[in-house]
Amino acid sequence: MSIVLITGSSGLIGSESAFFFLKKGFKVIGIDNNLRKTFFGKDGDTLWIRNKLVKNKDYTHFNCDIRNPDSIKNIFKKFKKNISIVIHAAAQPSHDYAKDNLHLDFKVNAEGSLNIFHNIQKFCPESKVIFLSTNKVLLIVWKLWEFSSSLKNAFHSEWRCNFVVFILLFQR
Ligand SMILES: NC(=O)c1ccc[n+]([C@@H]2O[C@H](COP(=O)([O-])OP(=O)(O)OC[C@H]3O[C@@H](n4cnc5c(N)ncnc54)[C@H](O)[C@@H]3O)[C@@H](O)[C@H]2O)c1
Repeated sequence: MSIVLITGSSGLIGSESAFFFLKKGFKVIGIDNNLRKTFFGKDGDTLWIRNKLVKNKDYTHFNCDIRNPDSIKNIFKKFKKNISIVIHAAAQPSHDYAKDNLHLDFKVNAEGSLNIFHNIQKFCPESKVIFLSTNKVLLIVWKLWEFSSSLKNAFHSEWRCNFVVFILLFQR
């Protein structure tokens, strides 16, 4: 069983990724608690996308918050090394919203990401990891990618995950 785990699976990038991998015959685990509706109101509601996704028999949804260590740990623990790809796209994506909601932005984008990376290291360290990054760290993560791409397995090694999160924290 090869599983693709996608955080932010009802969002723009997460949902497109989910439909893509479902078409390719993968099983997809989606994590999304529709926090987008809290950020942006009724127009940000992504429940309709989730309803479309759950119609697919190979899609399983978890209405969990990436900030919640226990619920995220339980998902990773359940599927462990069957998870071959992780796409981390759950985020608060708006500069403007971040400006007025610093703590919430930090908790979702920094602490939530740390939580995801910690569980990857623990339960599926061999998986391929795609981190969409938050808007402010994109360039820095790209530089990090360039820097470490010559190292074997660097993409999912422990130091790299820690370094990405460190950069993320440092940016705030
Ligand atoms: N869309 C773009 O063009 C683009 C470009 C560059 C980078 N990015 C980055 O990619 C990431 C994803 O972007 P997007 O456009 O898909 O965003 P999006 O807002 O469409 O999707 C994010 C999803 O994450 C979910 N989410 C947010 N907080 C959560 C939490 N605590 N727990 C569980 N789910 C949560 C939201 O409900 C939403 O469905 C962001 O970091 C964004 O900055 C996006």
